[in-house]
Amino acid sequence: SGLADILGSDARILIVANRLPVTAKRNEENSWDLDVSPGGLVSALQGVTRVQMMWVGWPGVSVPDKKDQMLITDKLKEKRCIPVFLDEEVVDQYYSGYCNNILWPLFHYMGLPQDYKFKKAKDFKSQLEAYEKANQMFANTVDSIYEEGDIVWCHDYHLMMLPRFLKRIHSNMKVGWFLHTPFPSSELYRALPNRQDLLEAVLESDLIGFHTYDYARHFVSACTSLLGLESYLEGVEFNGRIVKIEAFPIGIDCSKFKQALELPGVKEKMDEFRRIFADRKVMLGVDRFDMIKGLLQKVLAFEKYLEENMDMKEKVVLLQIAVPTRSEVPEYQKLASQVHELVARVNGRFGTLRTTPIHHLDQSLDFQTLCALYAVTDVALVTSLRDGMNLVSYEYVACQELNKGVLILSEFAGAAQSLGAGAIVVNPWNVEEVAKSIKDALAMSADKREEWHKHNYKLVSAHSAQGWAEDYVCELHNTGRATKALLQT
Ligand code: G6P
Repeated sequence: SGLADILGSDARILIVANRLPVTAKRNEENSWDLDVSPGGLVSALQGVTRVQMMWVGWPGVSVPDKKDQMLITDKLKEKRCIPVFLDEEVVDQYYSGYCNNILWPLFHYMGLPQDYKFKKAKDFKSQLEAYEKANQMFANTVDSIYEEGDIVWCHDYHLMMLPRFLKRIHSNMKVGWFLHTPFPSSELYRALPNRQDLLEAVLESDLIGFHTYDYARHFVSACTSLLGLESYLEGVEFNGRIVKIEAFPIGIDCSKFKQALELPGVKEKMDEFRRIFADRKVMLGVDRFDMIKGLLQKVLAFEKYLEENMDMKEKVVLLQIAVPTRSEVPEYQKLASQVHELVARVNGRFGTLRTTPIHHLDQSLDFQTLCALYAVTDVALVTSLRDGMNLVSYEYVACQELNKGVLILSEFAGAAQSLGAGAIVVNPWNVEEVAKSIKDALAMSADKREEWHKHNYKLVSAHSAQGWAEDYVCELHNTGRATKALLQT
């Protein structure tokens, strides 16, 4: 491949992310199985196959027993994964605390500074300490497998201190960091108590990547306003060198979906779903059960739509797959009960003896079932309140060659910047607008659906996960060459 030519055929890329692409799960025989992990990062990086990658990350469970740790480590080795075992206390403070109760809401504009958890200074301090400790553990694990020449690619908000810790161990290591969430406006980011230190830790990277140009711009303005750094076209100057900052929009492996749709098992499922939902239009939602996905707003809009289109109540169904996630965090538990209550209300109001308008599942689906659903449904409804990219919209497009279904896409998802021209773009906070978009989507002419699908499909098939990773890694590989010259001029 091109990348192997540039890097050399034995070059290794170490992918460091909080969550490994597989999660360890104890089975009935008291041994361990590996399940595919949820989330956009994992599905995207799985599309990257042509370069030698190794993963470093958390296997998703606390494993206190050393023998179990060894069993899991062996299993993971076959998948080229190296585990970082975090004990329960660290998971609670670092993962559920600092990552998902502080950074995640802050980066997604979920609440205002007065709602943020760092009001409780003591909790904040211990969560931050756990974050540092966890990042240091990741650094040590990387160090244990690192070989000169390896490229180290750190991912996401969990690991913002990792570039600093890695460079402390190997100052000439090639280190990149990529954020899969939005980066907030510096006006909000500045509320974070340890705002400067976190930026400075990330700036130890050689290349910093985001999904959209807007996120990159927000980050640069945080660097200039909070750290007083100079910014250039390429990035910012930090400690006498230019740290490159760039947008690299992620994609998916389209062919994986196309191939799945050819499998007899998937075709059978498609037929089955067509039978189950015969005579009804199906609107599909597939989301991790997270507040950023706008699930309440989605249900409210669907309720509004039904109110205004009573004749449709037996003719349309909202099929919502809500994949359980981070259920130890109280905010996520609260959200689940709110959504369940609202779904029950709508079903009570608009259900009949024959049909239930909202079919809501707190479940994840296996890949083949998911593909079958993507393929046979009429509309995909993405109502994220803020979302780094949102690859569900890409996956839906990849599976819709036959049906030419309509995509309703929140303007707050990064994907709106790429698929916006072939989708009904909505503000999910505007219930009336989303309700109307449902009506429009269901009434859209075949010609227009065809035209939009063509546009979207071209984009989704051209911007692969593979290409994304190659672009990023090439750029990372090349840093330090051009930029040195730049500073001398
Ligand atoms: C988002 C984040 C990922 C994360 C995924 C699943 O996509 O950007 O880093 O892995 O959500 O969340 P979880 O907390 O289960 O890892």
